[in-house]
Amino acid sequence: MSQQVTILGSTGSIGVSSLDVISRHPEDFKIFALTANVAYQTLADQCAKYNPSYAVVMKQNIAQKLTSVLRSKGCNTQVLCGAEDLNLVAQESTVDIVIAGIVGSIGLRSTMAAVESGKKVLLANKESLVMAGRLFKQAVLRSGCTLLPIDSEHNAIFQCLSDNRQSVNETITKLTLPASGGPFRGWQAKQMRDVTPDEACAHPNWKMGRKISVDSATLMNKGLEVIEASFLFEMPADSIEVLIHPQSIVHAFVHYTDGSTLAHLGVPDMRVPIAHALAWPKRIKSGVKTLDLSVVSDLEFSLPDHKNFPCLQTAYDALTSGGDATTILNAANETAVDAFLNSRIKFTQISEIVRDTLTNSIFSPIDTIEEVEESDARARILSSKLIKAAVK
Ligand SMILES: NC(=O)c1ccc[n+]([C@@H]2O[C@H](COP(=O)([O-])OP(=O)(O)OC[C@H]3O[C@@H](n4cnc5c(N)ncnc54)[C@H](OP(=O)(O)O)[C@@H]3O)[C@@H](O)[C@H]2O)c1
Repeated sequence: MSQQVTILGSTGSIGVSSLDVISRHPEDFKIFALTANVAYQTLADQCAKYNPSYAVVMKQNIAQKLTSVLRSKGCNTQVLCGAEDLNLVAQESTVDIVIAGIVGSIGLRSTMAAVESGKKVLLANKESLVMAGRLFKQAVLRSGCTLLPIDSEHNAIFQCLSDNRQSVNETITKLTLPASGGPFRGWQAKQMRDVTPDEACAHPNWKMGRKISVDSATLMNKGLEVIEASFLFEMPADSIEVLIHPQSIVHAFVHYTDGSTLAHLGVPDMRVPIAHALAWPKRIKSGVKTLDLSVVSDLEFSLPDHKNFPCLQTAYDALTSGGDATTILNAANETAVDAFLNSRIKFTQISEIVRDTLTNSIFSPIDTIEEVEESDARARILSSKLIKAAVK
């Protein structure tokens, strides 16, 4: 019998790749709901093609526009609107699989709704784990949800765990996360001062949304991934290493106590981890060609340049600080990246805003999702003030 799938953020890069994989297996997967923020034309095209029961958008005026486009296409998908309806399609009892592909902290509640209702959750929204890692993992254990990472590095680690478990044990000594280095690899900070948002979003190997593309350019993405890996696989910060690997062919290394190191290799295409997680524990076709190692020239690895890309170290520091430090880090980063994408601050000011927000915060323990959201809101106010002061 086919499985019912909800894609949170279907109009984004992860959403589109997920639909591409699903469309190759129409007997195995049916779309239950698709969601977007404002991209109603794309969402309408997706609804016409996949005929989901529901489409969810966040604003009433967008819902009206979507409804009229769907009517003109003769599509009978029901349009829902707002955060509550987003949670509804994530936890509806007929849904088997939820793909968490919304970008940023706004994805936390709907991802948690899917986790708490025990779904198979394919996690792309790394910000949920960065903001609320411990609570998130507790909810996974409580509900019995099957959490499968589709961030390529974390999916690769999952594949390299010999028993495919989500938490590693004492036989693992270290995890290595490769990073492409982004579009400014090898640059000095002063060369990056005046880069434009479009230049920062021009990732050499991956085609992604604008927020994660900027995070890749600052290396904050790798910092968020270190935090994600730490919560996901229960590994301390000092057992997670980052190496610059410009070719993006190796997606992770897992080092075992007997001296074995397992690696996951593949063409850099998100359909690989998505297909793996959709079918797990089986395997299905993803539409991606098998890696041809005879045409891959060198596979290079080097240590990251912390001096010119300070966000990575800031993320490690937040992870070791504990409490709500990673929540604050995430909120400050989202605020600063948004300011950069809107040309309010320089690229190099992103790292300064994040660092200064953390320096001016007192870290507190977090026991509820409401406390996560309060911490997130406080950090956004502080980082917005710092941005205002910086641009005066
Ligand atoms: N792209 C990748 O290759 C990749 C790889 C690993 C992990 N990830 C993670 O996957 C997540 C998605 O990344 P992406 O690159 O796919 O982002 P993206 O292309 O920007 O897509 C984001 C999706 O979220 C929706 N969205 C944005 N703001 C929203 C809001 N306020 N309320 C509800 N929905 C909202 C967007 O809708 P609209 O289209 O209407 O704006 C879109 O469907 C991120 O957490 C990222 O870190 C991505």
